Amino acid sequence: MSAQGATKGAINQLTKTLACEWAKDNIRNNAVAPCTLKSIDQGEIKMGDNMVQAGSRRRDDRWSLLGMTALVTGGTQGIGHAVVEELAGLGAKVHTCSRNEANLNACLHDWEKKGFEVTGSVCDVMSSDYTAEEFSTVMTINLESAYHLCQLAHLLLKASGVGSIVCISSIAGVVALNVGSIYGASKGAINQLTKDLACGWAKDNIRSNCVAPWFIRTPLVEAALNDEQFSKSVNARTPLGRPGEPKEVSSLVAFLCLPASSYITGQIICVDGGVTVSGFLPKHD
Ligand SMILES: NC(=O)c1ccc[n+]([C@@H]2O[C@H](COP(=O)([O-])OP(=O)(O)OC[C@H]3O[C@@H](n4cnc5c(N)ncnc54)[C@H](OP(=O)(O)O)[C@@H]3O)[C@@H](O)[C@H]2O)c1
Repeated sequence: MSAQGATKGAINQLTKTLACEWAKDNIRNNAVAPCTLKSIDQGEIKMGDNMVQAGSRRRDDRWSLLGMTALVTGGTQGIGHAVVEELAGLGAKVHTCSRNEANLNACLHDWEKKGFEVTGSVCDVMSSDYTAEEFSTVMTINLESAYHLCQLAHLLLKASGVGSIVCISSIAGVVALNVGSIYGASKGAINQLTKDLACGWAKDNIRSNCVAPWFIRTPLVEAALNDEQFSKSVNARTPLGRPGEPKEVSSLVAFLCLPASSYITGQIICVDGGVTVSGFLPKHD
């Protein structure tokens, strides 16, 4: 068994090395590490009801969110906006929120024109009022809001029978970045919250996963990326040689909501152009 495990470890490292070496040719490389699975036509392996359901769904159903409802916080711009469009495009009814009413109404109008079923409310997900200190603010906006929303949604997710939580953290919660240690700690806390919820609520068939982005072109980081020197250093540090686009995050969020990902839970998935698997790669060009 240990030799078998070692060969799998070798494949994992090969994946990371190729991902970094071949990123310059825009070749991506990833590995999928399943636990015991049955193939759809191999009925004899024992498994839970959920898997039977997943295995017997029609292909179209596995890639559709028709009949599902999603709550997306911060949907008026950036990653949240792309997530709203991705989920609504796959057939989900979406409710979103942001603090700025004018922006929210403009987005709702636009989505209605596109035929998406999206509702919205003006809401500040920061429920605490002790915003004077930076520490509290960052922890409140990043961690507490996610924690409280999950607790509030628990019964609804349980009642749905197929609940899926997708948090957005950051690779700053996976590796050290020069973005403030409190920001990194708050994102690391979301990563751990994701794992705890995945295990604690699995009995209710609620999955919990987390998407951890590197630089994604949104208003949040626009000023930083417009700085030519900084932008060059981001590109140089990124095996794929560029920052990501919101749609490159929302596609993964949507996948994690779909029945097609029914056996994936407790995972922190980096959307980072290879940054977190890249060690020292001297540039020769
Ligand atoms: N962009 C990146 O490079 C990057 C990298 C790593 C991680 N992330 C993470 O990804 C998430 C989204 O980032 P983004 O770049 O898409 O940001 P963004 O472009 O600034 O968009 C943030 C969205 O959230 C809403 N929002 C902000 N504070 C809120 C509050 N207290 N209550 C309700 N809504 C609020 C904003 O609308 P209002 O201002 O109207 O409320 C807006 O719709 C964040 O958690 C961020 O830390 C981003």
